[in-house]
Amino acid sequence: MTLSSYSDQLYTRFRLNKMDMFIFETGTIVTLCIFVLTFLLASLYMSAPKSNLPGPFAFPLVGNLPLLFKEKESEKHLFYQKMAAKYGSVYRLYYGNLMMVFINGYDAVNSVFVKQADLTTDRPEIMTKRAKVKGIVNQNGPVWKSLRRISIQAMRDFGVGKKSLGETVNEEVAVVIKYDHNDRKFQELLDTFDQMFSGEGTTSLGRILPWFKYIKMKEHKTTYDPNHCRDFIDLYLQLVNDEFKTKPTFDAEAFAATILAFFAAGTDTTAQTLNWAMLYMLGFPETQAKCQKEIDKVIGHGRMVSLDDKDKLVYVQATLMEIQRLSSIASSSMLRVTTGDVHVDGHVIPKGTIIRGNIISSLFDSKYWDDPLKFLPERFIGTDGKITKKEGFIPFFTGPRMCPGEPLAKMELFLVFSNILQRFNLEKPHPDTQLDFNGFSSVTFRPHPFQIRAVLR
Ligand code: HEM
Repeated sequence: MTLSSYSDQLYTRFRLNKMDMFIFETGTIVTLCIFVLTFLLASLYMSAPKSNLPGPFAFPLVGNLPLLFKEKESEKHLFYQKMAAKYGSVYRLYYGNLMMVFINGYDAVNSVFVKQADLTTDRPEIMTKRAKVKGIVNQNGPVWKSLRRISIQAMRDFGVGKKSLGETVNEEVAVVIKYDHNDRKFQELLDTFDQMFSGEGTTSLGRILPWFKYIKMKEHKTTYDPNHCRDFIDLYLQLVNDEFKTKPTFDAEAFAATILAFFAAGTDTTAQTLNWAMLYMLGFPETQAKCQKEIDKVIGHGRMVSLDDKDKLVYVQATLMEIQRLSSIASSSMLRVTTGDVHVDGHVIPKGTIIRGNIISSLFDSKYWDDPLKFLPERFIGTDGKITKKEGFIPFFTGPRMCPGEPLAKMELFLVFSNILQRFNLEKPHPDTQLDFNGFSSVTFRPHPFQIRAVLR
């Protein structure tokens, strides 16, 4: 029945006049529209993703993506901080229908990733299943445990933290110190590295990793001699051969990917921390002068700074730690998945949820740091004049899946930083140059490009 024949019948039946009929018809259509609209809105609301965990309203299908799109990609780290200030130690965001929970502040991070580590150490399927190359970063269970144990052992055997490797690092430092600005080849090398880690261009790591894997592994396997270990890949082959005798938990592909993961995870992180270190030295010349005074007193100028000097260069170490804290180059952990219900601050994070630890929130946690925004290397020096352990200081994250490269990174940072300061005064190109400490998010959190004058001391 059409709407007009229906209204004709009503007209006859109730003897309504034409005006009454017009109002009635309009009223029916409006009611119908309101009903349909309410129904649509209600069903949209019902299908919107929901959880008991705090967080902003999530729209059906898109979740919180509109909110995330509003934020500049380069300022995402600030957005996560803002959310933590609003919703507290645990909040959730929906990326479409996918829920991700952020853990904020040192206490909550410690509770989730250390105290409940048995439930929060695995990587989620979006990392393990989609990855083309599966090494230490995107494996779980016994394979991950084996890869991790062997990697850490390999680094120790190879001398991380020991004098021998310190000397090798210093040879590289000497090359950097003598680097000629007009050397086009060196400049090209730096540009290529920059492209690799910014994920742009044909040399981005994502594109070259598969090639690197096949070329290097094949080359090493054919020339491998168990009695003569030439480098990290040989060491790996040797350790894995031993491992295979008892428990073949992983294959050649997995450890090739692991070697590459170490390369990828270890290069840009350390380089960007050093970039920040240079910027902080420009911004805080009195700190630079104090570091140099300490270096001059302990070592002088007759030789390079070595690892043996580390314990005596307390102020230099404290300065590097404060730079790491303030620059927070890894603003959060990589993705994890809960393998059971996790309890934190009165919330229950259900099994199977993707979670992330917010590292910045711990590095700036006012419960653990007085005046957290202030650059204050002295905060790391105890009354006994030695470096003090600070609980909230987790630039390498925490728990069983924290960064395995921490000892190597610390060694490199110390040697490069202190040897540069021993040889050079770092200055702004012009006294009026404004320095920008805001930085931007890329693979790591980087400072905006800046110019520096390195004047031989
Ligand atoms: C300043 C330098 C560095 C910082 C701040 C840093 C920070 C981190 C952080 C926050 C994680 C994430 C942990 C998680 O999954 O939750 C991580 C993982 C990792 N890092 Fe580093 N890292 C640095 C240098 C290095 C170096 C030099 C290496 C290698 C030699 C390295 C190798 C790795 C690897 C392989 C992982 C994954 C571990 C796993 O999944 O078990 N990192 N790092």
